[in-house]
Amino acid sequence: MRVFVTGASGWIGSATVDELLAAGHEVTGLARSDASAAALEAKGARVRRGDLDDLASIRAGAEEAEAVIHLANKHDWSNPAASAAAERGAVQTIGDALVGTDRPFLFASGVAGLSQGRPSTEADPSPFHGPDSPRGGSENLALGFVERGVASVSLRFAPTVHGARDHGFIAAIAAVAREKGVSGYPGDGANRWAAVHVSDAARLVVTGLAKAPAGSRLHAVAEEGVPTREIAEAIGRAFGLPVASIAPEEVQGHFGWIGTFFGMDLAASSAATRELLGWTPVGPTLIEDIDAGGYSAAPSAG
Ligand SMILES: NC(=O)c1ccc[n+]([C@@H]2O[C@H](COP(=O)([O-])OP(=O)(O)OC[C@H]3O[C@@H](n4cnc5c(N)ncnc54)[C@H](OP(=O)(O)O)[C@@H]3O)[C@@H](O)[C@H]2O)c1
Repeated sequence: MRVFVTGASGWIGSATVDELLAAGHEVTGLARSDASAAALEAKGARVRRGDLDDLASIRAGAEEAEAVIHLANKHDWSNPAASAAAERGAVQTIGDALVGTDRPFLFASGVAGLSQGRPSTEADPSPFHGPDSPRGGSENLALGFVERGVASVSLRFAPTVHGARDHGFIAAIAAVAREKGVSGYPGDGANRWAAVHVSDAARLVVTGLAKAPAGSRLHAVAEEGVPTREIAEAIGRAFGLPVASIAPEEVQGHFGWIGTFFGMDLAASSAATRELLGWTPVGPTLIEDIDAGGYSAAPSAG
């Protein structure tokens, strides 16, 4: 299949492009820099130069392809509204380009805010609607295209898609630990984070492209919930730092933007996804990756 991938140079996108190429797909990756373009070309992927703010380029990429996988995100944590607006704009543009084609449109999403007091499941609809909601309400916007002839599929990634050289949320928490000289966890550290290794996440994306019906919500989750206290203990071991509880009212001040997420219970099940696709995660656990030094090269905060 000819697949257009946004975010093809990113953490999940790079692994996904490798999986797509290995499965025999033709990949065109969106690249906004010479470095990202060169990395894609070196793998054997084609390149479409463009930016999330260049919707004409995204539209053309989607129109030329037989399937779209949208993984780009600005991730500007100092301006979440701008990231959400760009996300919504890209999803609207790709959806519009695919109307009436029945072509697969797989797009990144997450598990935050789907349930209260229990792990979220694929049956939980996103409560986020409209441009002012998290991620710009992009999951519901994209799934709304199903009735207009687009095979939209939500890729709900665990809050940590981990592995060596990951620069995501766990790297940010590790950076705070190094800066503060203490590996903290929120409150009693009983709140949990779902987790998945990046190789399993990429394999899920490619399996979902082949097999997921339109309208599916897939959970890229290997571990249902790792207590934040265990995450902090592993980071403490990795950097030789003391481990301490951070009082709930101090979490935001201590951790900064990542505190919003580290203080949340983000447990999630993937039972329905495994059943639907026959997908079985096999990669290392989050704690194994931290213990193996996967985050030891993380830059310090600020
Ligand atoms: N990683 C996780 O644990 C996780 C968890 C839940 C959800 N997600 C979601 O999954 C998706 C992929 O995440 P990721 O971890 O792979 O992200 P990432 O490593 O930060 O990669 C982001 C990608 O988006 C591209 N990008 C950023 N700003 C852009 C812009 N203005 N125009 C065009 N491209 C732009 C980047 O290009 P450059 O290479 O040029 O910078 C990169 O390819 C995102 O939507 C993310 O929110 C990730």
